[in-house]
Amino acid sequence: MLQDKDRIFTNIYGLKDKSLKGAMSRGAWSGTKGFIDKGHDWVIDQVKASGLRGRGGAGFPTGLKWSFMPKADERPSYLVINADESEPGTCKDRDIMRHDPHTLIEGCLIAGFAMRAHVCYIYVRGEYIREREALEAAIQECYDAGLLGKNNKHGWDYEIYVHHGAGAYICGEETALLESLEGKKGQPRLKPPFPANMGLYGCPTTVNNVESVAVVPTILRRGPDWFASFGKENNRGTKLFCISGHVERPCTVEEEMSIPFRELIERHCGGVRGGWDNLLAVIPGGSSVRMVPAEQIIDTPMDFDSLSALKSGLGTAAVIVMDQSTDIIKAIARLAAFYKHESCGQCTPCREGTGWMWRVMERMVEGRAEKREIDMLFEVTKQIEGHTICALGDAAAWPIQGLITHFRPVIEKRIDDYTYRSDKDGRVLEAAE
Ligand SMILES: Cc1cc2nc3c(=O)[nH]c(=O)nc-3n(C[C@H](O)[C@H](O)[C@H](O)COP(=O)(O)O)c2cc1C
Ligand code: SF4
Repeated sequence: MLQDKDRIFTNIYGLKDKSLKGAMSRGAWSGTKGFIDKGHDWVIDQVKASGLRGRGGAGFPTGLKWSFMPKADERPSYLVINADESEPGTCKDRDIMRHDPHTLIEGCLIAGFAMRAHVCYIYVRGEYIREREALEAAIQECYDAGLLGKNNKHGWDYEIYVHHGAGAYICGEETALLESLEGKKGQPRLKPPFPANMGLYGCPTTVNNVESVAVVPTILRRGPDWFASFGKENNRGTKLFCISGHVERPCTVEEEMSIPFRELIERHCGGVRGGWDNLLAVIPGGSSVRMVPAEQIIDTPMDFDSLSALKSGLGTAAVIVMDQSTDIIKAIARLAAFYKHESCGQCTPCREGTGWMWRVMERMVEGRAEKREIDMLFEVTKQIEGHTICALGDAAAWPIQGLITHFRPVIEKRIDDYTYRSDKDGRVLEAAE
């Protein structure tokens, strides 16, 4: 279990002083100039050695991503922070911004320096108004203290601009986010070219999640070996988990990567509501990953590789726990409605497919369907997966695939119940029209 002395986020619950003075008393902004003096490549090498993988969902190695930025280019380089946090179940970046904003701001300076950027944009989710205000106040404190801006104490001129989104999920996809920042409709771009070559305003850009960047100052202060001492091979560090649903005490908590699911829930959430036998299934990484049934997840380490071995994923580490009272078909139908609503409409499989899947799912909730439609639905998810410009198509397909893979008998029973209204012994009382 992660000890308090190893927590990167020392004020994630907002119980302490979040001002610059308070943050500095907990270690923020100490030794920052020393890191900058060691040079761009030193910072990147430290982050690579720590084993940090992106916390925005895809888990791409952060140091490697930074190394893709050009070392010499007449165009300016940009760091863009993805604070759009719209993945259902995810509520960690908001706690960083409203309670521990200096971890992020110091991280922005260091990450920006590593990739030779003098300008950083933070794209904040539209609904996060108080979070944006807290972040802006903290940035202003840094300007006033000479930690940011021109001729700042660190010897690397640096400007941070906060941009407030308008509440579209798709603007969290990194290239849609860049379009939106440029003032256009938030629609994903085709890749390649990747943002490191052609990003914001056609210039080299790296987009990183809030948590990915906020952990960097502490990694440099305590050393990459310290960070890499947590978790399993290839899945290193500490991680913010957001646990919601049918646990006794839902919470966001920083824990060691690879902590087994049971331990995470027992230690921090007071267990599953009604006991472990009452657990039905878990969506371990935000709504975009496939669910895992109870018996498979209980002893699984919560990390990228262990969960992908179960054909699910760590995603944003938004752990949605569902007990036996859950109408699992209805739960996934609700997610299907979400993806239909959030599809940007550029690609035909996603635009048409999300609506089609949602309509079938709504009938499946009632049981007003034929059993052969289950296979047909699965087939449609396969035709969307991997055939679209961005990963929203996959994200819409996977929850339904998870449902059919693990709970087909539940869907079939619902169809039977609708077709033949029977008594408890299975005798047919009436056939539905
Ligand atoms: C539909 C969609 C929505 C996304 N939303 C977010 C988001 O809200 N926040 C985020 O950090 N990444 C989000 N991502 C992932 C980003 O595209 C990108 O991979 C991430 O910001 C990279 O940061 P990282 O390398 O630090 O993880 C989303 C991706 C997709 C396809
Ligand atoms: S997959 Fe969906 S959300 Fe992504 S670009 Fe295509 S239509 Fe838009």
